[in-house]
Amino acid sequence: MPCGARACVVVNRDRPIGVFDSGIGGLTVAHALMSALPHERIVYFGDTARLPYGTKSSATVAGYAAQITDFLLKRDVKMLVVACNTMAAVALPVVTNLSPVPVVDVLDAGARAAAASSRSRRIGVLATLTTVSSGAYERAIGAHAPDARVVSQACPLFAPLVEEGWLDHPVTELTAREYLRPVLAQGVDTLVLGCTHYPLLKPLLARLAGPATTLVDSAETTALRVAELLTAQGLRCESKAEPAHEYYVTDLPQRFRAVGALCLGRPLPEVHLVHW
Ligand code: DGL
Repeated sequence: MPCGARACVVVNRDRPIGVFDSGIGGLTVAHALMSALPHERIVYFGDTARLPYGTKSSATVAGYAAQITDFLLKRDVKMLVVACNTMAAVALPVVTNLSPVPVVDVLDAGARAAAASSRSRRIGVLATLTTVSSGAYERAIGAHAPDARVVSQACPLFAPLVEEGWLDHPVTELTAREYLRPVLAQGVDTLVLGCTHYPLLKPLLARLAGPATTLVDSAETTALRVAELLTAQGLRCESKAEPAHEYYVTDLPQRFRAVGALCLGRPLPEVHLVHW
């Protein structure tokens, strides 16, 4: 039988993994992927022109997610990683419906990890306004731990503070104290960093929350899920060469390059500017 486009998909395991977020937050996931899967090539997309997503409507975020999915699929990715909780909360079906390749998202990974970690069955979730309003974490945690009580706190100021590079700044500390107070007052023993920008505030949040609180950073759990899925689907790359990652943003590439290097702990190559 001749090899028609749909009947015979040529699997090139050395195709890249597409990772996307509204800005630099998804680099926390890219960093975990680079550590867990050092030979996999990543094409990263940060929608810096339209950030923050976390204060926008579900319909708007879904439209952005569709556009980015299309962009990354045109770059021939073998898997998509939704490295943005807000998109995962309100636009995951849009991405999965468009995608012929497997899709992994940070929200499910975070919910699983929180359900496994909490002893008191009281779990705090710090996330964007849009994620909190969607109720997606309550549903996802409830699916893994039906007896758990979820206390959600919207933290709309965190993403802009992180984008500013104010990871350990007095303004960020004051803001974090305000956001944490009502959550910690509920006796949570587990705190989900439900936005991919927040792991960059982990040292500060860990100090304020204290040693009795476990912080769940879904970046590592997501990387493990990606590794599992690549193996299960025979998609692990064969090349043992140092991968040449690519970075695309919709605004201010130089700024992304500077702050991104702080997140990744390594210099970034050229960051490409995308004009829609
Ligand atoms: N990093 C994104 C998230 O995980 C959203 C930040 C924003 O753009 O508001 O939710």
